[in-house]
Amino acid sequence: MSTSRASYPDLAGKTVFVTGGGSGIGAALVTAFARQGARVAFVDIAEEESRALVESIRQAGKGDALFLPCDLRDIAGLRRAIEEAGRQFGDISILLNNAANDERHQTLDVTPEEWDARMAINLKPQFFAAQAVLPQMIRLGSGSIVNFGSITWRLGQGGMAAYSTAKAGIHGLTRSLSRDFGPHRVRVNTLLPGWVMTERQLKFWVNPESLKEMEAGQCLPDRIDPQDIADMALFLGSDASSKCTAQEFVVDAGWS
Ligand SMILES: NC(=O)c1ccc[n+]([C@@H]2O[C@H](COP(=O)([O-])OP(=O)(O)OC[C@H]3O[C@@H](n4cnc5c(N)ncnc54)[C@H](O)[C@@H]3O)[C@@H](O)[C@H]2O)c1
Repeated sequence: MSTSRASYPDLAGKTVFVTGGGSGIGAALVTAFARQGARVAFVDIAEEESRALVESIRQAGKGDALFLPCDLRDIAGLRRAIEEAGRQFGDISILLNNAANDERHQTLDVTPEEWDARMAINLKPQFFAAQAVLPQMIRLGSGSIVNFGSITWRLGQGGMAAYSTAKAGIHGLTRSLSRDFGPHRVRVNTLLPGWVMTERQLKFWVNPESLKEMEAGQCLPDRIDPQDIADMALFLGSDASSKCTAQEFVVDAGWS
């Protein structure tokens, strides 16, 4: 995994909580914040990958990582994990609401149960994770929440209406929380990745045709990798972005 191009000394010693930190962009977030000297707790359902990630951070010898197994659809379990992270590492300063599931679905086939299942991973945990960390951030007198969106709805991409609806809804969540908790210096922003070449994307969705579409859409010719997203998250987590809140930050090489 490549390393960050920036260094933020204020992140050292801070507690960070990442949802879906075991693989993909989440693993890059966990690694990047640990390399800045932060104490990173993360939840995931992928236990094997998550434990291997903790081990690799331990071996690198900088920062601290704590894996708490948790299915984000279980809100009581999520609340317990946030409590536990705060207890072990100290109050959480930075929440990265990263986890999602981008399974494609055909609109005419979606049942009410499937709709609820899409929201249960792509929208609901973002609200309840924020709700659970806010008392810790209020105690600290500051905090940064980064909600992960997507450019799918900006592109008007089809084949995933429920996912795109959840991702568009995140902007409302960001704006609402930033207004309510700004007086406590809690900042809330949305980070919108473009098409990031994670293992999952390469396995399921990347093919010569879709790559052609991406190349035609992006202004820049390069592929986006998880580190590009982690670099933006580091900025948003750090005091370097202390006056940025209620905004959208797009890392998509100019596609949307
Ligand atoms: N990769 C992209 O091209 C891309 C594009 C736009 C937006 N995004 C957004 O960026 C974020 C990260 O995307 P990614 O591509 O790394 O995703 P990913 O699917 O590769 O990884 C998601 C992580 O969340 C975990 N997870 C999934 N369901 C869970 C559950 N119920 N409980 C706990 N953990 C669970 C997975 O095990 C995995 O480690 C998401 O919010 C996604 O919507 C990604």
